[in-house]
Amino acid sequence: MLTVENLRMYFPVKSTGLVRRTIGHVQAVDGISFEVPKGGSLGLVGESGCGKSTTGRLITRLYKPTGGSMTFDGVDLAKLSNRELRPVRRDVQMIFQDPYTSLNPRQTVGAIVGAPLAVHDIVPRNQVKKRVQELLEVVGLNPEHYNRYPNEFSGGQRQRIGIARALTLNPSCSSPTSRCRRSTCRSRRRSSTCSRTSRRSSASRSSSSRTTSRSSGTSARRSR
Ligand SMILES: Nc1ncnc2c1ncn2[C@@H]1O[C@H](COP(=O)(O)OP(=O)(O)OP(=O)(O)O)[C@@H](O)[C@H]1O
Ligand SMILES: [Mg+2]
Repeated sequence: MLTVENLRMYFPVKSTGLVRRTIGHVQAVDGISFEVPKGGSLGLVGESGCGKSTTGRLITRLYKPTGGSMTFDGVDLAKLSNRELRPVRRDVQMIFQDPYTSLNPRQTVGAIVGAPLAVHDIVPRNQVKKRVQELLEVVGLNPEHYNRYPNEFSGGQRQRIGIARALTLNPSCSSPTSRCRRSTCRSRRRSSTCSRTSRRSSASRSSSSRTTSRSSGTSARRSR
């Protein structure tokens, strides 16, 4: 369902001064390949800075890759324009790692979780609140939390808000990161016993200095 081949992301390193020239590249992701079958999940494990988050951002196309392909349901996400990506964004969702910076502190939980429903016209406006409250319940929060602000929640509860937001569009593919707990969502609990699999080739690399990359020992775990 999702096939990633030889995915690369090189960030340019600019010189300081008036004219900022590109003087090198950070090889954040350098030739990673894996497959995630329908209904399956994949865990990406590796040391800090080895390119895990960058891989997630590439799959959700927050970054345009330097090279490689990411085929999702037969479409290469790497080649799509912003306009072509719009329908895909309904199917590919991100659950952010840091619940303190990924939620707008000025918006209520209702507005945060309800925003994707409004943007994509998923339910009639008068049913948005009901749907958001259902989702809050699915992730183990109280539907009465609808009018609360993110600062009124614990870190774990904020993570659940992020998960509820990701679930609003019934995505086929979501990119959760480290703070997800096994108890957060039933569908995730089913897939939490990961078995080691061999990736066809995985070479996610990071750079310790600005332009030199080193191998990181990133490994992937997948379960069905
Ligand atoms: N926008 C950017 N510009 C330049 N370099 C970047 C950028 N984003 C990430 N990097 C670099 O790319 C490498 C990979 O970063 P990434 O955030 O993907 O690591 P990670 O595996 O998620 O680390 P952690 O486990 O600490 O979250 C790091 O060396 C980082 O400094
Ligand atoms: Mg990260």
